[in-house]
Amino acid sequence: MADPDALLERARAVRQQAYAPYSRFSVGAVLEAEDGSLHVGCNVENASYPLTVCAERNAIAAAVAAGRRRFRTLAVSASGVEPVAPCGGCRQALAEFGTDLRVVAEGAGGGRREWTLAELLPDPFLSDAVGRRGESPVPARPTGR
Ligand code: THU
Repeated sequence: MADPDALLERARAVRQQAYAPYSRFSVGAVLEAEDGSLHVGCNVENASYPLTVCAERNAIAAAVAAGRRRFRTLAVSASGVEPVAPCGGCRQALAEFGTDLRVVAEGAGGGRREWTLAELLPDPFLSDAVGRRGESPVPARPTGR
């Protein structure tokens, strides 16, 4: 398990890349995969507001594109004073890959909070509810880079 300080530092750095001209609320997220690799995302807003994508979901997309589907830790750095937990939609998106994820968050005020995804999203709606018609969702195929 990577040091949460190091993960949050990386989240703070990627937060600088956020494209958030509408809300002016920037978020950086880092997903630590089971193999120790790190996958980052920042929020990307759009003039058509609902098209905005949160930092956490962009980190998921980066990780999955790199062949990682099993994660240990999510670190989130947000520009508000208080640390923020991932939004409801991102909790659902994260739960697809396991609810024992450790979530650490920091705000610009220096405060830190920590949860498990299971605490943030009790009784999740998961693949077993719809039946695994296709590929099993979790097994990872790291791309070996
Ligand atoms: N945002 C995130 O990136 N992650 C969250 O968990 C909460 C919200 C972004 C979306 C939008 O660009 C801005 O923060 C304000 O909602």
